[in-house]
Amino acid sequence: MQEKLLNLKNEALAQIMAVRDNNELEKIRVEYLGKNSGKLTLVIKKIPELEPDQKVIVGRFANEVKKMIEDALERQKALLQKEREENIAEAEWIDVTIPGIRPPEGHLHPLTQTLADVISLSRRLGFQIAAGPEIETDNYNFEKVNMPPDSPSRDTQASFYLDPRGSKVQPGEILLRTHTSNMQSRVMEKSKPPLRVLVPGKCYRVDDVDASHNIEFYQFEGFVVDRGISLTDLLGTVDYFLKELIPGTEVKFYATHFDFTEPSVEAYIRCTICGGKGCAYCKNQGWSEVLGSGMIHPHVLKFAGMDPHIYTGFAFGMGLTRLAILRYQLDDIRLLHSLDMRVLEQF
Ligand code: DAH
Repeated sequence: MQEKLLNLKNEALAQIMAVRDNNELEKIRVEYLGKNSGKLTLVIKKIPELEPDQKVIVGRFANEVKKMIEDALERQKALLQKEREENIAEAEWIDVTIPGIRPPEGHLHPLTQTLADVISLSRRLGFQIAAGPEIETDNYNFEKVNMPPDSPSRDTQASFYLDPRGSKVQPGEILLRTHTSNMQSRVMEKSKPPLRVLVPGKCYRVDDVDASHNIEFYQFEGFVVDRGISLTDLLGTVDYFLKELIPGTEVKFYATHFDFTEPSVEAYIRCTICGGKGCAYCKNQGWSEVLGSGMIHPHVLKFAGMDPHIYTGFAFGMGLTRLAILRYQLDDIRLLHSLDMRVLEQF
């Protein structure tokens, strides 16, 4: 009987080691250890029939065989499980040397880029950057820059006045600023010359939105106040400024009128859209107007507490959108505010 047990054990262990999946293992367990007709079970059932001294020896050996088969089953099960895990790991293996997929890269919006260039150029020329309120009083926006209530120039800056109901403000007193010139007096009142200031910022005007007009737009205002500032300082600075921002351009000046400057000059550059041949954008002139400027009017200096007999200054104001259009050759400012990636990806 002992020999039979030994054979059963060898047979079982060999089978177990050859098995590749859990179902097979379970079949083997039943084949040998099954409660009713397992091969080993059947042998064990016969032990009580043995002689008393044999019973003990064979009984103990049978238990050992049973334990060995059970252990072998467990071990094989664990081995199969481990192999399965390793296979999964292999399937998920990552080659870290494969070049990555580049995420799409963003860039500055053309308006932001233009503004950044204007600011860095101004800093190089020794200008300080100032910011001021977009909700402004009629006083700073108009009166202090020599545009009294009856000035016809106000018609060119149709304004969004704020509804004063429920506040102490009188109707017509507060508005969304129409230009960054509002900061001339605000800065002059608080600082002493020499002044070299650049004010970039958002402005608002009542307008019909079309290819060249928007109710909300960016402007920047530059001004310089000191003893002995003259028109040639203005012309030289503006000429340099424009040629730095639009390399290779030509600049010319025309006399004009602004309430806040005397004399006043408009700067034109060679139209970058048509190269000077004439197009719809430049109204076939070959030149486009880009900037207003002039010597700060003595009234403006006086209203801000400066003595115009001691100090003189110049100022210039320019639409950022217009500058961006001319730099990037766009024909519709609405494109600059569109979310259309096909437009934005071109820059
Ligand atoms: N404030 C003017 C406007 O928005 C622009 C301007 C013209 C500003 C002449 C100036 C200047 O400082 O001297 O239309």
